[in-house]
Amino acid sequence: MISKDMATLINAQINREMYSAYYYLGLSAQTEAMNLKGTAAWFLAKHGEEMTHALKMFRYLIDQDAAVTLKAVPVPETVGSVVMEIFERTLEHERGVTRSINDLVDHALTEKDHATNVFLHWFVTEQIEEEATVKDILGRLRIFGDQGQSLLMIDNELAALAQQINQAAATAAAQ
Ligand code: FEO
Repeated sequence: MISKDMATLINAQINREMYSAYYYLGLSAQTEAMNLKGTAAWFLAKHGEEMTHALKMFRYLIDQDAAVTLKAVPVPETVGSVVMEIFERTLEHERGVTRSINDLVDHALTEKDHATNVFLHWFVTEQIEEEATVKDILGRLRIFGDQGQSLLMIDNELAALAQQINQAAATAAAQ
């Protein structure tokens, strides 16, 4: 059993993860409309990952006999159609998620809530990987540009990355 305060904070994080899923879903639609099929597939795969994050927290609350309180998911922010800007905003977004996960860990430590602290470690590690992936994409865009052939190259890379994410999700679901 976890404290009411801890449960409230995890419920708020479920909402943030749902928002993240929605944010990526919006970008998938947007980049699909820009004919960036690989980028759209990557954002769609990210949407699936974020839903998994929300569901992990949902399951944790249930397992801990804590109340799940679902709130409205905000409409995703509008992001311009410049590819560089899309990834800059995405990195900012993920950094915000990292801060909120760190706040949750801080709270768990304050309460000496060891179970939640251990549970959150997975998310801390996940955020390192998520930020690194977006930084890597952004780094390439900064070197090669976000137009023409370099955009095509990055779009192809994102298609391959999307496949990897989907395969990893399928493997995890089968376990
Ligand atoms: Fe669930 Fe991208 O953080």
